[in-house]
Amino acid sequence: MERPFLFVREGMVIQHIRDIKLMQKRSLEIRQHGKSIGFVPTMGYFHDGHIELMKYVRNRCDLVIVSIFVNAIQFGPNEDFQKYPRDIDRDLKFVKQAGVDIVFNPEHKDMYPDNFQTGVSVGKVTKYLCGASRPGHFNGVTTIVSKLFNIVKPDIAVFGEKDFQQLVTIKQMVTDLNMSVTVIGRPIVRETDGLAMSSRNIYLSVEERKAALGLKKSIELAKRMVSMNENDCKKIIHAVKNELLSKSCIKIDYVQLCDTETLEPVEKIKQKTLLALAVFIGSTRLIDNCILDFGV
Ligand code: PAJ
Repeated sequence: MERPFLFVREGMVIQHIRDIKLMQKRSLEIRQHGKSIGFVPTMGYFHDGHIELMKYVRNRCDLVIVSIFVNAIQFGPNEDFQKYPRDIDRDLKFVKQAGVDIVFNPEHKDMYPDNFQTGVSVGKVTKYLCGASRPGHFNGVTTIVSKLFNIVKPDIAVFGEKDFQQLVTIKQMVTDLNMSVTVIGRPIVRETDGLAMSSRNIYLSVEERKAALGLKKSIELAKRMVSMNENDCKKIIHAVKNELLSKSCIKIDYVQLCDTETLEPVEKIKQKTLLALAVFIGSTRLIDNCILDFGV
């Protein structure tokens, strides 16, 4: 006979669930017992950025559910879906330290059966930045996150500010579609030398890894300019681009200063302005960002 689920925490056993219906049943049971669910959606290959999100949820909810699903429909035809790092055994070991209760790891054929034909699409906030460079990407993200919310039924869901536009887009979706989940954003977790943690960092060669520090350096340059009262976005963008291009293997996808809520480009730095960067280092696409505070 199946063990009553709510005893699982006491044994610190992580449940690894692949079946969608079983996940829905578990979530329903948890909620029927009056327990809250905290959720961290991921594509796996964990680093400390992911773990920080899990620990944050651990302290705020009764049960922590993490999904691992490399979502094909958010990758473009020439992107890295095939080679995206996957190692479920490594991930299951990693999550033990974060107090996770359930790892939900569905299969592609179950999430997107042959007759799948529905998509969730958010408007204006997806048109800028990564939305402009990666057509269809955010439709893929909002579709999978909606599906995951329907399956996991979380009270809170946590996302990293590293993917700032993703966070803004999901908040917009949750508001527009009256989803009963609270979305929380968490700061970027960085390596000790300042590179933002990313599952994609393992693609970098030793040389490329060094060049990747250009991202952090250019952010620091922008911060210094703003602290010296520079508020002209053109000048800041120009300086940031020059800093990035001082590394020969960096190609710029975009450098943009935008409103932190609408993501529309701005011409003058306001009290809070998002500096968002996307570059290719060799064939690896990396993003980074920071909030610039004018007059602080
Ligand atoms: P993934 O890239 O695996 O990221 C999962 C979560 O970890 C996202 O919320 C992301 O913003 C956060 N994250 C990644 N690196 C981080 C860092 N250095 N510091 C803090 N948080 C970090 O984002 C996705 O997966 C997918 O698009 C997903 C939302 C799961 C939909 O498929």
